[in-house]
Amino acid sequence: MPFLIGENMTGGYGGADILHGCTISVDKGEIAVIVGPNGAGKSTAMKAVFGMLPLREGRVTLDGQDITGLSPQARVAAGMGFVPQTSNVFTSMTVRENLEMGAYLRQDDFTDTMEQVFDLFPILREKAAQPAGELSGGQRQQVAVGRALMTKPSVLMLDEPTAGVSPIVMDELFDRILEVARTGIAILMVEQNAKQALNIADKGFVLVQGANRFTDTGAALLADPEVRRSFLGG
Ligand SMILES: Nc1ncnc2c1ncn2[C@@H]1O[C@H](COP(=O)(O)OP(=O)(O)O)[C@@H](O)[C@H]1O
Ligand SMILES: [Mg+2]
Repeated sequence: MPFLIGENMTGGYGGADILHGCTISVDKGEIAVIVGPNGAGKSTAMKAVFGMLPLREGRVTLDGQDITGLSPQARVAAGMGFVPQTSNVFTSMTVRENLEMGAYLRQDDFTDTMEQVFDLFPILREKAAQPAGELSGGQRQQVAVGRALMTKPSVLMLDEPTAGVSPIVMDELFDRILEVARTGIAILMVEQNAKQALNIADKGFVLVQGANRFTDTGAALLADPEVRRSFLGG
């Protein structure tokens, strides 16, 4: 049984359902990637797994426990970190303050964790005293990922972490994400850069209109002619 599962998720924002029996899962130390066209429900699936969308059907389990009824805050306390697609940093706060905000649930000393984030993203150490709003897009994404790591999550969920960054910055960020996965954290990520993301993915989910269209290893999806033609630009 995978470590995190969003199983048979059906629901939406109050009107018609957006998700139709969607199933997503990831194991510790693994990278699972969700790809699919704009409006397919990728972000909605992430919100559902994080408890920001009421499910009409289906459930979410973490380490074998049913967490479907837990609030997002309670999920953070249970070991989930989430970096949403938009507004994921406090632009008027410094880099250090952003990271401190990430640790708001922790009662213990988080100095070591902040050092680990600075080791992972050295530019953040240099810019620790600068407002996050002054940073480049790629650096802001590092702040957002670093903030989510401050609670020492067992699962890290990232919605389009490379949106709007150059290919070089994207490769660099993917390398860092691989590094995080190697520490044993489960990574569930939505990506527009589907080919590159599936390249580093253990598992991939192609979502279309709120439902699973293809599910396989990253390598198998990359090699599938139909997936390539329809979703990866050939
Ligand atoms: N807050 C919201 N309220 C109502 N509908 C929404 C909301 N967010 C997204 N949607 C709708 O849900 C569908 C899926 O959106 P989304 O999950 O953002 O897709 P993706 O992330 O795959 O681009 C779209 O039709 C979108 O218009
Ligand atoms: Mg989205």
